[in-house]
This record gives sequence, structure tokens and C-alpha cells, in this order.
Amino acid sequence: MSKTRIGIIGAGPSGLAQLRAFEAAKKEGHDIPEIVCFEKQESWGGMWNYTWRTGVGKHGEPVHGSMYKYLWSNGPKECLEFSDYSFDEHFKKPISSFPPRPVLFDYIQGRMEKSDLKKYIRFNTVARWTDYDPDTKKFSLVLDDLSQDRTYTEEFDYLIVASGHFSTPNMPYFEGIENFPGTVLHAHDFRGADQFKDQKLLLIGSSYSAEDIGVQCYKHGAASVTLSYRNNPIGVEWPEGIREWPLVTHFEDNKAFFKNGASEEFDAVILCTGYQYKFPFLPDALRLKTSNNLYPDNIYKGIFFNALPQLIYLGMQDQYYTFNMFDAQAWVARDYMMGRYQLPGKEERRKDIDHWVERNNSLESAYEEVDFQSDYIKDLLELSDYPPFNVDEVGEMFKQWLRDKEENILTYRDKTFRSVVTGTMAAEHHTPWMDELDDSKERFLKPKRKQAPVGQPV
Ligand SMILES: Cc1cc2nc3c(=O)[nH]c(=O)nc-3n(C[C@H](O)[C@H](O)[C@H](O)COP(=O)(O)OP(=O)(O)OC[C@H]3O[C@@H](n4cnc5c(N)ncnc54)[C@H](O)[C@@H]3O)c2cc1C
Ligand SMILES: NC(=O)c1ccc[n+]([C@@H]2O[C@H](COP(=O)([O-])OP(=O)(O)OC[C@H]3O[C@@H](n4cnc5c(N)ncnc54)[C@H](OP(=O)(O)O)[C@@H]3O)[C@@H](O)[C@H]2O)c1
Repeated sequence: MSKTRIGIIGAGPSGLAQLRAFEAAKKEGHDIPEIVCFEKQESWGGMWNYTWRTGVGKHGEPVHGSMYKYLWSNGPKECLEFSDYSFDEHFKKPISSFPPRPVLFDYIQGRMEKSDLKKYIRFNTVARWTDYDPDTKKFSLVLDDLSQDRTYTEEFDYLIVASGHFSTPNMPYFEGIENFPGTVLHAHDFRGADQFKDQKLLLIGSSYSAEDIGVQCYKHGAASVTLSYRNNPIGVEWPEGIREWPLVTHFEDNKAFFKNGASEEFDAVILCTGYQYKFPFLPDALRLKTSNNLYPDNIYKGIFFNALPQLIYLGMQDQYYTFNMFDAQAWVARDYMMGRYQLPGKEERRKDIDHWVERNNSLESAYEEVDFQSDYIKDLLELSDYPPFNVDEVGEMFKQWLRDKEENILTYRDKTFRSVVTGTMAAEHHTPWMDELDDSKERFLKPKRKQAPVGQPV
């Protein structure tokens, strides 16, 4: 009998979690299925694999990356730590709680290299189209090998969609924006604050991108930052130089008009208006259709497409938890594909989905959202042997982080947290985040200067 074949689309943290889950089973002596992971970029890490490119990549494909220079983790690293590969194991010493992107990328890569997982990945390969045959119960996946300019098809018993959902911009229209004379871009194409030094910036949106890009531009020398919200402001106490106004109504040349009656001239506009879920390689009947939220409908346990559970989605939730959530999902998905975990019937799955979706709809604060996603993780951890970790304690860290941000949006990244995986307390970073303009790994890992005894030079 031929081996079960599993296709994984995407080698970001979610797709890599799936590879790691199979590798863990193999190490325990299990015979694992045949796995192929397709990644359209030339390297792994998904969002964490920074690119200077915008628009299209080397081979004319839409650029996936939305990350930018000077991006630091926006949540404590202790809240995303892999429970089978700690920060201590990777860095061999305590590091601070909010590392910059290159450091987290290094951490992701470290776990993969340890397990020799590159061999499963076909890079520069785009999943172009999928058909499912109900008779053979197989997926045919049309693939483009970009470096060879070759199209081919392969068959799979299970298909894992791990292609991310923070890549295709949501681009609303504002009257008159077409005549704005300065730069207009979406956060997806933002590559760092340098070009906005001394400029008067308008950012539309009130979520993580608006907050982080706004604060970064302020930190790196923008003349002023104005944030414009549709429903709710971010609502923290902003330093002088950042302000938050209601939504833009329209533009006249370089002047924006706002719902509160104010108007102001700007040099640049950045649309921090979120992303669309896009699966151009899936037919209508198999496509997950959702907005960005904590429990997208129609996927059981947040992963199995209810109409066809052989189709598995990873990482499709809005995210407090990230890497450890993808792991918890991937371990359950693995056990299902290896016949170690049985799914209940379709109706029972539907009821379970309804229960989570209803609860999600009733959430009223970020604190309740944290509890909700913590409960979701606990539910997943019950179903597999992914090394358990103290989810309640991680939930408390998230809540402390929310309070820290409310207290001071410029200093929350200087706080430290304790790992639930190793018990290690994070080190204090050698430089306050607001003064740290270098986000390189080398600079980050530089030892803290010893305090010189009083009266002696350092
Ligand atoms: C600007 C920004 C900042 C963020 N900062 C943080 C943070 O500080 N901390 C945190 O925990 N999370 C952060 N995130 C969330 C981030 O999305 C997750 O950490 C994580 O990268 C999600 O992993 P993923 O594998 O699901 O998706 P992605 O990382 O998006 O990876 C998806 C992969 O699929 C590939 N792919 C897509 N389509 C195809 C196709 N058709 N064929 C083949 N390959 C394909 C892509 O090239 C990509 O490599 C941030 C996200 C953004 C956008
Ligand atoms: N490491 C970091 O520091 C960092 C930085 C950036 C992003 N990220 C990550 O990136 C992910 C995406 O964050 P995101 O902020 O880009 O997206 P998001 O969380 O989905 O938020 C989208 C925002 O766009 C607004 N919006 C949508 N349509 C609009 C319209 N027509 N007019 C005005 N506003 C509109 C929404 O407003 P409403 O609330 O009114 O709907 C919301 O504020 C998150 O996971 C985040 O953690 C992390």
C-alpha cells in the first residue's frame, strides 16, 4: 500500500510547527506519512523572514512579508515560547522579554535546524490550485516551481493550509486620497521609519499596526504622528507628538478632514487597516471565509474544515498566542492524520464550533479575549502530547502586558517576565527600548555593561 501523503502550504511558523510535530512522532519511533511542504519564498520563517521588497518578488509573485525594520516583538516572548524548545536552550543565557525580529527569527530557525527539517520543504514553489476528488478522497495540488518556471501536479490525502493571513492588505477608499501628493501606502508595504523622519504622518486604523508603526516613527524622528480610528481609539495616554483622532472623512490635496471637524496637512498616509484572508489556490467550497477574529467559523477545534476535515487550516485565528498555539494545533492535526485522534461526527463538530463562536461573539474586553484564547489552547493541549505548559500563567502575563501598555506605551517593552517552560526570569535589556535604535541580533545579545564602582570610569 502506498504511504499517506501530506501537503503543507507555507513554511512560516504554522507550517514549520506541522513539520516539527511529525518529526517528534518519528523520534518516538512512529512510522510517519510522506510529507511535502511548499513555500513560495526562497527561505522559511514566513513573516519573520524579512524582505526589503514590496509589490512583487523576484519571480513576480505578490510579496508575502509585512514585517519591517526596527520591529520588536509586541508581546512578551514568554507568551509564545515553544514548550519543546526553550529560549534558554537556544540562546544559552537569559535574554529580555521583547526581542527584535532578527532574534525571534533566529529562535524559530534554531528549532528547525536542530531537527533537520529543511529536507521536507520545496522552496520557490507556489501552491496555485487545488481540486478534491470525493471518489478517490485525494487532493490534486497544482504547483509552480518558480525557479524552473515549471508547473506540475501532485496528489495528497491531507492538505494543510498554513499560508498566513496578514499579507493581503485591506485597502479602503477615502474620498480625495487619489490626489494626495505625498506617499500613500499600506502597512504591508511599510519597511521602516527612516523615510518618514521629520514628516507629518497620518496613520489610519487603531490596532497593532497603527500603534506599532506610529510609535516606531515617533521614536525614529517623525515630526508628528496622527492616528485616526473608525470604531474605537487605542486610547492610551500618548506622548506629545502622537495624537488620536476619529476617522478621516475625506482629503483635499495634502489636507485630511476628520469626523471631529478638525483638518490638517500631512506629508504621508499609512493605511493600517488590516488584512484580507486570501486563498487563491482553493476553490470556493474549500475556502475559509472569515474576518480576523479569535474563532473563525467552520473549522472544528480551530483547524479542521468541517465540510471536509482532511483539509486542515493552521494559524487562522487572530493572535494573542502565536508560536505555541500553532504548535498545539499542529500536534492535534498530526494525531488525526496518523489515526491517533478520532474526530466526532459532523453534527457534533458543528455544535462544538457554535459553542466557541457564540462565546467569541460575547467577548467585551481584551482581558476576556485573553481568557478565551487561553481556554482554546487548554482545549487543544488535552488532545495531544504536545508538552503541556501553564496556560493560566501565560494568560496572566498577557493581562499584565495589557496593563503595562495602558500605563505607558513607550516603556512596556522594558518589562520582564518569567518563562513557564524553564522558570527563568528574563534579563533586563542593556538599553531602554526607546533609546535603542539598533535592532540587530549582535547588538541585542551584547552583554550588559557592568556597573563601574562609584568614582571609577566605566
Ligand atoms: C507586521 C507584523 C508583525 C507581527 N509581529 C508579531 C509579534 O511581534 N509577535 C508574534 O508572536 N506575532 C507577530 N505577528 C503575527 C505573525 O503573523 C505570526 O507570528 C506568524 O508569522 C504566523 O505564522 P504563519 O505560519 O501562520 O503565517 P506566515 O508567517 O504569514 O507564513 C505563511 C507562509 O506561507 C507562504 N505562502 C503563502 N501563500 C503560499 C502559496 N500559495 N504557496 C506556497 N507558500 C505560500 C508564505 O510565503 C509564508 O512563508 C506579526 C504579524 C505581522 C503582519
Ligand atoms: N510586532 C509588532 O509590533 C506588530 C506590529 C504590527 C502588526 N503586528 C501584528 O500584525 C497583525 C495584524 O495587525 P493589524 O493592526 O495590521 O490588523 P488588525 O488587528 O486586523 O486591525 C485592523 C485595523 O484596521 C481598521 N480598519 C479596517 N478597515 C477600516 C476602514 N475601512 N477604515 C478605518 N479603519 C479600518 C480596524 O478598525 P476597526 O477596529 O474599526 O474595525 C482595525 O483597527 C496582528 O497580529 C499584530 O499582532 C505586530
